[in-house]
Amino acid sequence: MTILPKRTPALSIQRALTNVVFPNVRLASVITVRCLSDTSRSSPSTASTRHTPVLLTEVLDILQPRPNQWYLDATFGEGGYTEAILRTCDCRVIAIDQDPYAIEKARQMATQPEYKNRLFPILGPFGDLSQLLQRIKSPTTTDPHLPLPPNSLAGIVYDIGVCSSQIDEPSRGFSYLQDGPLDMRMASKGSQEVSERDIQTRLGRRTLPASVIVNNFTVDQLAYLFRTYGEERYALRIAQQIHTYRQKHVISTTQQLANIIYDAVPHALRQRTSGAGGGKQRRNPAARVFQSLRIYVNDELGELTKSLEYALDLLMPTGRLAVVTFHSLEDKLVKRTFQKRLSAPTDEVTSDSSPRLTYRALTKHVITPSKAETKSNPRARSAKLRAIERIPSPVNDPSDS
Ligand SMILES: C[S@@+](CC[C@H](N)C(=O)[O-])C[C@H]1O[C@@H](n2cnc3c(N)ncnc32)[C@H](O)[C@@H]1O
Repeated sequence: MTILPKRTPALSIQRALTNVVFPNVRLASVITVRCLSDTSRSSPSTASTRHTPVLLTEVLDILQPRPNQWYLDATFGEGGYTEAILRTCDCRVIAIDQDPYAIEKARQMATQPEYKNRLFPILGPFGDLSQLLQRIKSPTTTDPHLPLPPNSLAGIVYDIGVCSSQIDEPSRGFSYLQDGPLDMRMASKGSQEVSERDIQTRLGRRTLPASVIVNNFTVDQLAYLFRTYGEERYALRIAQQIHTYRQKHVISTTQQLANIIYDAVPHALRQRTSGAGGGKQRRNPAARVFQSLRIYVNDELGELTKSLEYALDLLMPTGRLAVVTFHSLEDKLVKRTFQKRLSAPTDEVTSDSSPRLTYRALTKHVITPSKAETKSNPRARSAKLRAIERIPSPVNDPSDS
């Protein structure tokens, strides 16, 4: 059995999956046969409550939007941050999201008179930031602000994770509380998706729904995933239970997986609710397993790594970058990336010295939601905000050398 090396879990699993699990089978056919369940073919429900933006006041305090400047919301979601930025002053926002429904919403918003020529939605993964930004077109051929010159963004914000509308929509496959196809790809329309090829065209790469992972990874690979991304204590027991179950049935729905997890954990930990209310209530083990699958399926850590490095270069002098994360591994990644820039010698940061740029931390300590925010929005409870500013470096004093 393959034991995954600890340093590059996602890559190793991906390689193992390509080389070992599907030696002679084309990925697309596996996905079609084993993943798309017929549990729901209706259009996404509109019943979900609107996503409440997390740490919104703190994010705006950091960005301090200014008129005529450009901002990038790398995770548009339901547009909470974008809308707040655009309402602050007469600025412009480029809004990215890999979820087709999110960008549909952004496009509708962009047609409203108050946002006309001020909001520029782009569909795609923020890991491909440089390519995505090349796609923005001038709304009018005479727009003097486009194309964007380098180092021209006054603010960038990331709000990593999923939106309420994604979790609350069973046909997307994120929810362990409601039944739906075991998908979890943010770039997919869930049970509305016609073919894997459509997602590939939109995203520019292949994707694997969670059902492929659950039905094909080895017990060790699954246990590693649940432990690393979900911090699940009973990772191995759950992986073994999945293995036993899938010898008889294909696992294609969220409720099949939630029931397997329920049966695998000790009696005292079994629960059918989210257990996300804070206090002494434990989190449902299904929440941790689903989270780990979602992080892997969407390559959330890989995307963030690629994107942050590039985003830091896009800031103008005095430009600010804010990142909200919900997982300790993501927060560590942000902290490390910022520290690298903060401690880099100026001449290593940019080869072009006009003007030479450096960075300063805006959050010495991580910012977390207030008790009041967590109480009114329990989904905010694990949020962490870090921010950094790009500043012109002092001109070197020749007498130093
Ligand atoms: C927590 S929501 C953002 C909510 C938003 N700040 C608001 O107030 O409505 C996160 C969004 O980021 C998107 N997302 C996550 N990873 C992404 C990626 N790699 N590329 C593009 N969008 C991504 C998700 O599809 C989701 O819509």
